Amino acid sequence: MFGIEREREGDSVLVEALVARVFGPGRFALTAYRLREGNDFVSALSFVAREGGSVIGSVRFSPIMIGDDMALLLGPLAVLVEKRGLGAGLALVERGCEEAARLGHRWVLLVGDLAYYDRVGFRRAGGFVEMPGPVDRDRLLIRGFVGDGVFPRGLVRVAR
Ligand SMILES: CC(C)(COP(=O)(O)OP(=O)(O)OC[C@H]1O[C@@H](n2cnc3c(N)ncnc32)[C@H](O)[C@@H]1OP(=O)(O)O)[C@@H](O)C(=O)NCCC(=O)NCCS
Repeated sequence: MFGIEREREGDSVLVEALVARVFGPGRFALTAYRLREGNDFVSALSFVAREGGSVIGSVRFSPIMIGDDMALLLGPLAVLVEKRGLGAGLALVERGCEEAARLGHRWVLLVGDLAYYDRVGFRRAGGFVEMPGPVDRDRLLIRGFVGDGVFPRGLVRVAR
């Protein structure tokens, strides 16, 4: 059985190899990836799923602005093919979001399938949030920690 733990310094090579394996070279072309380029991951919000000493999954978050409001971009989220369906993906998202809320972050944005992420509180954001590149509007999702229906609006950019 896996456990969710904060990513340690020595894990980053494993996490990067996992992400490269899961997403392949196509990841460089993604709008979400471009928002992470030259942007730092929030180290307090980087988590791994570990099983018997091996990293089987990971999640990271980057700081972004949505219009005038600070928020987080979730991703990459990756779980090894042979370890999928065991709950690691949703547990990583849940743990990361819990910690984000605890640290005072108000919103988490991501690009992904609603059918997966609605299980952990995400809803469509395509009507009020705009990405700085091509993205399927139906896959632009947001979760808030500040009360129902309170969401930022506007264009997403890297927070500096
Ligand atoms: C998406 C991913 C992280 C899920 O990880 P996981 O550990 O298998 O997820 P969990 O075990 O927590 O959840 C599995 C459940 O979600 C469902 N699910 C998985 N991907 C889904 C999707 N894209 N849409 C809808 N449901 C999905 C599974 O069918 C399963 O359902 P069940 O509980 O009814 O059996 C993993 O498949 C992965 O790494 N995919 C490639 C990278 C990727 O797409 N990352 C997300 C980009 S936004």
